[in-house]
Amino acid sequence: MTQKKTVAFNKPRLHGEIRVPGDKSISHRAIMLGAIAKGKTNISGFLEGEDCLRTLDIFKQLGVSIERDGTDVAIDSPGMADWHTPAGELYAGNSGTTARLMLGILAGSNVESVLTGDQYLSKRPMKRVTGPLLSMGASITAEGTDSDLLPLRVKGTPPLKAIDYKMPVASAQVKSAILFAGLRADGIVTVQEDSVSRDHTERMLQQFGVVLQKEGDTVSMEGGQTLAGTDVVVPGDISSAAFFMVAAAMVPGSEVVFTDVGLNPTRTGILDVLQAMGAQIEYLEDKGQQGEPYGTVRISHADLRGTEISGDIIPRLIDELPILALLATQAAGKTVIKDAEELRVKETDRIKAVVTELKKLGAAIEETEDGMIIEGPTPLSGGTLSSYGDHRLGMMAAIAALAASDAVTIEDPACIAISYPNFFEDLEKLTAFQGAE
Ligand code: S3P
Repeated sequence: MTQKKTVAFNKPRLHGEIRVPGDKSISHRAIMLGAIAKGKTNISGFLEGEDCLRTLDIFKQLGVSIERDGTDVAIDSPGMADWHTPAGELYAGNSGTTARLMLGILAGSNVESVLTGDQYLSKRPMKRVTGPLLSMGASITAEGTDSDLLPLRVKGTPPLKAIDYKMPVASAQVKSAILFAGLRADGIVTVQEDSVSRDHTERMLQQFGVVLQKEGDTVSMEGGQTLAGTDVVVPGDISSAAFFMVAAAMVPGSEVVFTDVGLNPTRTGILDVLQAMGAQIEYLEDKGQQGEPYGTVRISHADLRGTEISGDIIPRLIDELPILALLATQAAGKTVIKDAEELRVKETDRIKAVVTELKKLGAAIEETEDGMIIEGPTPLSGGTLSSYGDHRLGMMAAIAALAASDAVTIEDPACIAISYPNFFEDLEKLTAFQGAE
C-alpha cells in the first residue's frame, strides 16, 4: 500500500531561522574526491540523505575506509589506483549524480564493476555520459538490452584518451563525469558548455590540489594529476532551502532567515527569480569565499508578480523549477518557464508531473514542450498529490498546502529523505509561530 502524509494549516505564517541540511551535489563530490585522493579527508556538514549515502556505500565497496558520525565523515583512502574490485554490484539507488559521476570515475579506475539503480534511475538516459566516455576509450557495456540505461558494466581502462568536448546540453553531471575521467587521461581534457552549469567539481578539484583552467564556459585540465586529501566544509543546500524560501515569499506575514546556505553563483538563480517576482531578500552575511561561497539570507513575503524564466538562468535553478511553478500560481500575472526540456529527464518528467499535480489543486498551469505557462494568482484547493517517488515533487506538494484552502495529502512522501531527511520537522518548526497578526 502506498504510504501517505497529510499536511494541513490554518492561516499559516513562517517565522524563524533554519540551517538546511548539507548540499547534495557538494556532499557527493566530497566523498568522490576524498576516495580518489590518497590519504585522509574530513568532511563536515555532509548530507545524510539517501542519494549521498549510496555514493558513500559504493566507495566502501571499493575498499575505501569511510567512517561517518552523523554529518561528519572521515575518509582514509589508498588512492584511486588501489581500489579493490567490489564483491557485488554498485547500487546508485535513485541518484542520477551518483550514477553519472561514477561512470566517469570508474572508466579511469583499475577495477571492473556493474553499476545499477532503482526503478526510476534505470529509466534515465546515460548516453550523454557514456558517449563522450566511450570516445575517450572507456569500456562501458550494457548488462540489459538498452545501452542508454543502467545496469552498465564498466571496466576501468586507464590511461584514457584526452578529449575536447562541446556538450550538447548544459549538465554538471556530464561535465563532472568527463573531468573525473580526465584525471586519468593522457593529455589535456577540455569541456565546453553552452550555459554554465554548477561548478562544484571544478572548485573542489582545485581544493584537492588539481590545477585547472576556467575561461568563460570552458574548463581544461591536464590528465594524470594526483589529488591530496583535504578538509571539506559542506554548506546548506540552496535547492533544499528553496522550498522554504518560496514558502516565505508566498505566505503573507512570513519571514525566514537561512544560515550557512550555499550561495555559489551557479546555483543562485532562485534568488534572482524571487527578486524579479518581488520578494524581499536581504543578504546578511557572506562566508567561505575560498572554496564554496555561503552565507545568511533573509526572505520575507511581499506582493508577487509573474516573470519569465528562460535561457542561461535555467541551469542555475534547474532543480528549483517545480517549487517556482507553485510560487507562480500565487503571483499576479503570467509566468513563462521555457528552455527547460531537461526537466523531462529528471527523477520523473517534472514538466508533466508538476502540471498534472498543481492542476489537481485548481492551478491555471499548462504544459509546453520545454516548460510551463502559469497564470496567477489562483486560489488552491486541497487534494491528494503524488510524489512520483521524486523528492522535489513531494516537497512541492507539502509547500502547496501552505497556500491551499484545505489539507494536501502526499502519496509516497518517503522519497523526501533523498535530499532533506528532516524536511517535515523544519516545516513544523517554521510554521509553529503563533505571533500577533
Ligand atoms: C547535479 C546536476 C544537475 C541537477 C542534479 C544534481 C549535480 O543535473 O539537476 O540534481 O550534482 O551535478 P544535470 O547535470 O543533469 O543538469
